[in-house]
Amino acid sequence: MNHNNIVEFKHVKKSYFLGEAEIKALKDVNFTVEKESFTFIVGKSGSGKSTLLNLMGAIDSPSNGTIIINGTDISTLNDNELSDFRAQNIGHIFQNFNLIPVLNLYENIEYPLLMINMEKTKREEKVNAIIESVGLKGLEKHEPSQLSGGQRQRVAIARALVKNPLLVLADEPSANLDSKTSEEILALMKQMQETYKTTFIFVTHDRDILDKATHTYELKDGVLGVNHDK
Ligand SMILES: Nc1ncnc2c1ncn2[C@@H]1O[C@H](COP(=O)(O)OP(=O)(O)O)[C@@H](O)[C@H]1O
Ligand SMILES: [Mg+2]
Repeated sequence: MNHNNIVEFKHVKKSYFLGEAEIKALKDVNFTVEKESFTFIVGKSGSGKSTLLNLMGAIDSPSNGTIIINGTDISTLNDNELSDFRAQNIGHIFQNFNLIPVLNLYENIEYPLLMINMEKTKREEKVNAIIESVGLKGLEKHEPSQLSGGQRQRVAIARALVKNPLLVLADEPSANLDSKTSEEILALMKQMQETYKTTFIFVTHDRDILDKATHTYELKDGVLGVNHDK
């Protein structure tokens, strides 16, 4: 594997079974993601985007094929090793923000650091720094329900980045935002990518947000190919 590649998929297939019926969500996907890229995968609803992202985030495993993340074949890890791997290396941003409603803004962002047992002083330093860089200073005590969609997505970005992960995976991060907010959020993510030198991988049906991408692919009925828009 080229050391500039942080993710490699080799002949990856994923099927779901509903009774007797096999749904081939991914059919022989082969691709690599370059380190520190801002990679976008576009595709219609049902094309396999979330499936692909879940495999990349080691949330789910493939039916066939090999997935290598930062030099590790993730099929060789047991359940404990996999959850450690996820906690250390992967940050997620979701369409519905997925914030914890009973925790305030500060606590939501601190949560991933508790999961990796970071000590208190270092935690405070990291959480305060990222709150500042995503422009949420002063809102630490607010609960998610008191925040706008754009602010919630900023919290989600901060939460994904606070542990400085290898990979940030975003599943339709602009889907619940108006176009102006979505533009601001994308610009913020790009800026965060440059500051933290993280690799961002997006899946989206929204072709309007592709202009900031360094690499784009298209997923059609479980087949990944080049995207011809760019
Ligand atoms: N847990 C599941 N069980 C059965 N079928 C699923 C499951 N998850 C996804 N699928 C099916 O796999 C295909 C790809 O789904 P998904 O990856 O969610 O696509 P997208 O995110 O692009 O909308 C769809 O046909 C979907 O219905
Ligand atoms: Mg999806």
